Amino acid sequence: MRLFQQLSGLSVLVSLVLAHEGHSHDHHHHDHSHDHEDLGGINFCGDGGSLTGGCQDGLGNIAAADQKVFLWKEKENETTQQDSPASDEDDSTLGNHPWTHTKPCFTSAETNHTLCVFTDNHFASNRGASFITTPERATFFTTTTPFLDPSLTKDINQDLHRTIPSRYEKQLIPGKGMGLIAKVHIPRGALIMANTPSLMIDYRAFEDLPKDSYRQLQASAVDHLPPLHREHIMALSTHDSADRSHIEKIDKICGTNAFDIDPHPEDPMQDHGFYVVFPEISRMNHDCRPNADYYFSHDTLTQYIHAIRDIIPGEELTLSYINPVMKHKARNEKLNRIWGFQCSCPLCTAPTPQQLASDTRIAQIRDFWGEFSDWSTDSRASPQLAELVASLYEQEKLWGNMYEAYTWLALEYNAAGEPWTAVKWANKAVERGIPVVGENDSDVLQMERLIKDPWAHWSWMKRVRVRGGWGKGREREGEENHENDDDE
Ligand SMILES: *[C@@H]1O[C@H](CO)[C@@H](O)[C@H](O)[C@H]1NC(C)=O
Ligand SMILES: *[C@@H]1O[C@H](CO)[C@@H](O)[C@H](O)[C@H]1NC(C)=O
Ligand SMILES: *[C@@H]1O[C@H](CO)[C@@H](O)[C@H](O)[C@H]1NC(C)=O
Repeated sequence: MRLFQQLSGLSVLVSLVLAHEGHSHDHHHHDHSHDHEDLGGINFCGDGGSLTGGCQDGLGNIAAADQKVFLWKEKENETTQQDSPASDEDDSTLGNHPWTHTKPCFTSAETNHTLCVFTDNHFASNRGASFITTPERATFFTTTTPFLDPSLTKDINQDLHRTIPSRYEKQLIPGKGMGLIAKVHIPRGALIMANTPSLMIDYRAFEDLPKDSYRQLQASAVDHLPPLHREHIMALSTHDSADRSHIEKIDKICGTNAFDIDPHPEDPMQDHGFYVVFPEISRMNHDCRPNADYYFSHDTLTQYIHAIRDIIPGEELTLSYINPVMKHKARNEKLNRIWGFQCSCPLCTAPTPQQLASDTRIAQIRDFWGEFSDWSTDSRASPQLAELVASLYEQEKLWGNMYEAYTWLALEYNAAGEPWTAVKWANKAVERGIPVVGENDSDVLQMERLIKDPWAHWSWMKRVRVRGGWGKGREREGEENHENDDDE
C-alpha cells in the first residue's frame, strides 16, 4: 500500500479512496479468484480497481477478449529450448537463463507480443515456479534478487513438503470445504505461512490471447512443474464437481485460487500485473473480518501471511478475498459473482440492525478517506477525525486496516504540532503495518522517519501552516475552518 507520494516536491497522502478502490484487499484468492491488490495497485481495467470486476467473468476469464477478433500464429515449435544454443531472436533475449522449459509460446498477431511458459524447476530449493509472460519480462525476472540469490528462497515453502506445519492443520469445514485450523495460540503479528508462487501469469496473456491459447499456456505451466508441486495445485478446489478436461480444470483452479500481484517496481512492463497461484495459501477460506492478512514481496518473490489479531486454538485461519471496507450488499454481490458462494461469515449473517449499523460505519469511513490526503484548506482532516476513523475501524474489526488509521493519527497530530502524540501513533502504525504490508512498505518507512525526528518530517505543523493558524488564534483547531463546509 502506498499512502504517500511525492508531488511537486511535497510528500502528500494519495487519496485513499482511490487507493482503497485500487487495492486493498480485493484478495484474489483461493476458491477466490482475482480480486485483490494492494493500495496503490494499478487499475488495469479502468473500473476503479477490481481486476475481476471489469475485466473478467466469474471464471477468471477476460470477458472482453472473447469479443475481439484475433489472428493467431502458433509458435510452439519455433521456440528454442533451453539446451540449444541461441538460434533465433526469442532465445537470444533469454540470454543465460535458468529456465528448464520455455514453451509453448503464442504470438498475438494484433499486438505482436509473444507469450510463453517459463518454468524454473530449481527455483526455491527445487519447488519450482512457472511464469506465463513475454520473453523480455521473463528475462527481467532472472535479474531480480530471488533468482540471483537462491539463499533468499531456500527456507520458504517448507510446508510444501511437510504439508502442514505444526501451527495449523487442514480440516474439512462444514459448508466451506477444506480450511486451515489453528492448533496453537497464534499471537497477533506472527507469521503463519510464506510461499513463493507456483504460477505467475501476466495479465497480458489474458488481454492479448484468445481463451484457448492462454488456457493451453496455463495447463503447460502446471504440467511442467515438479510432480509433488503439480499435485498440490491439482488438489485445489474448483468449487464444484463438474467433469472437466485437464485444461478446463486448471483454468477453473486458476480462476478461483489466484491473487493479484502488482508488477515489480523496476519491471519495464508496469502496465500489467500478475495473477498468481500459491496452493498452500489457497487453503485459507474467506471471512469478511479475517484474522490474517497477506502481502507480497518482490525482494523475495514471496507471499507472507500474518495473524492480524490473536488467534486461539481451534479457530479457522481466514483471509478476506475482497476489500473488507465494503457495504453488505456490495460485499455479497461480489463474493457471489466472483467465487460463486453465498457469504456466510458472521458479518453477513448478523441480524439486520447490526448489518445496517455496520453499513453506516463503512459509509462514514469511505467518506473520510479522502480527507487525510487533502492538504489544502478544504480538508476536514484533524487529529479528532483520525481518532474517529480509528474507532470506526475497531468497531468494524478491520484489524488489517488499523495501521492506516494509526498512520493518519500520527500525521494529523504531527501536522497539528503535537510531536509526542504523533510518535506514539507512528509506533503503533509500524507495529501493525509490518505484518500487513511489510517492513519495506513506503508507509512503514515514512512512520519510521517520523518516529526518529517528527520536527524534520514533512508533516510537521503542516495543517497549522496551511490553515494560517499561527497568530490567528486558531492553532490546532483545523475543524473551525470548515464550519461552512455544508454551504459549499
Ligand atoms: C509441433 O511439434 C510436435 C511434436 O514435436 C508436432 O506433433 C506438432 O505437429 C508440431 N506443431 C506444428 C504446428 O508444427
Ligand atoms: C510484427 O513483427 C513482425 C516481425 O517482427 C513485423 O514484420 C510485423 O510488421 C509486426 N506487426 C505488427 C502489427 O506490428
Ligand atoms: C526488505 O528489504 C531488505 C533490503 O533490501 C531485504 O533484505 C528484505 O528481504 C526485505 N523484506 C521483505 C519482506 O521483502
